[in-house]
Amino acid sequence: MATSYLPTLRTVQNMLIPDAKGVLAGLGLICASYSTIRVLSALALYSLPSRVSTYHHGPGPWALITGASDGIGLGIAEELSRQGFNIILHGRNEGKLNAVSSHLGSKFPERQYRLLVADAATFPPTSSAYTELLAPVKDLNITVLVNNVGNVGGVTNKSIRSVADWPDDEVEALMNINVTFTLHLTRALLPILQQHEPALIINCGSVAAAGLPYLAHYSGMKAFLKAWSRGLGIELKAEGHNIEVLHAEIAEVTTPSNPGSGVPFKTDAATFAKALVSRAGWNHGSVTAYWQHLMLSRVFAAMPEWMFAMSMGSMMRQMSKEEVVRVDQFKWDRKKDD
Ligand SMILES: NC(=O)c1ccc[n+]([C@@H]2O[C@H](COP(=O)([O-])OP(=O)(O)OC[C@H]3O[C@@H](n4cnc5c(N)ncnc54)[C@H](OP(=O)(O)O)[C@@H]3O)[C@@H](O)[C@H]2O)c1
Repeated sequence: MATSYLPTLRTVQNMLIPDAKGVLAGLGLICASYSTIRVLSALALYSLPSRVSTYHHGPGPWALITGASDGIGLGIAEELSRQGFNIILHGRNEGKLNAVSSHLGSKFPERQYRLLVADAATFPPTSSAYTELLAPVKDLNITVLVNNVGNVGGVTNKSIRSVADWPDDEVEALMNINVTFTLHLTRALLPILQQHEPALIINCGSVAAAGLPYLAHYSGMKAFLKAWSRGLGIELKAEGHNIEVLHAEIAEVTTPSNPGSGVPFKTDAATFAKALVSRAGWNHGSVTAYWQHLMLSRVFAAMPEWMFAMSMGSMMRQMSKEEVVRVDQFKWDRKKDD
């Protein structure tokens, strides 16, 4: 009697456990399609032409760039000048900003330049202070805001160090430069951008947002910036605004705060700025603007946690030790010069 059930059981078993070859073929197809889509999207990302001209409209459009006196900010100021924008250069050093303005003015005589001087490390975090700061430029046709100001070291030269080694005032300065200034400036500028839509906000982030040891404060601040950019971008669209928020994940760019060379995937500020501006206008959300930096962020993302922890832990610890030596040498050289 029991044997008569066997064929039925076998059918049920075949239905529940499809043959292994079919499963593997299905998985292979899914993986191949996923990889093809990722490769094609990356190719599209880096080959689509810039649409920054979307934001070049109305009488003499302006771009406001924070931390524009040097490094990536200066590179972006030059690239946006080339693309036809007038530029509001923000920085903390008026003399340096004047020199940059003259340099750009002689290179792009048809453009206009204005200066905004404010120390992001100490600027008062109140709406009224930001309204006052923006008063001289509030009537300009500002269509682009680039939140570039930021650094790993706050106001000191020592950046790669353990969380426990940061004094209160330096943590506060780091927070102000990387987060608070950007937040309040954007809030104060939003009504002006909304008057001049379509408009663009670029936020300069970092691959450190993955969470790097010995750069933990900075990593967290850049992770904040990434999530904030995404939330803000979606919120503005939900409210019916035509404002693109583009978050840029940056890896290695030679600038005054990151002078070393010979690092893989490193590029110069002008090349990076061109790549970044080229990504605008497509509502990408968050991008690794420069294609070689994508390799680094993919490597970070692909590592299992134990491997990331092991490699980054020992590498950054070593870099932290080397930096102590470098900073001591720097202080000693300064003392000799004084
Ligand atoms: N370079 C990289 O490899 C790299 C990697 C990842 C992310 N990033 C991000 O990219 C952005 C630009 O980096 P960068 O390397 O070009 O920086 P940078 O070389 O240090 O230049 C930063 C600019 O910000 C200004 N600045 C610094 N502290 C300021 C303050 N307290 N108040 C006002 N302005 C201040 C500087 O002015 P002064 O001319 O007066 O110094 C300069 O114009 C930052 O947000 C950084 O976190 C850079």
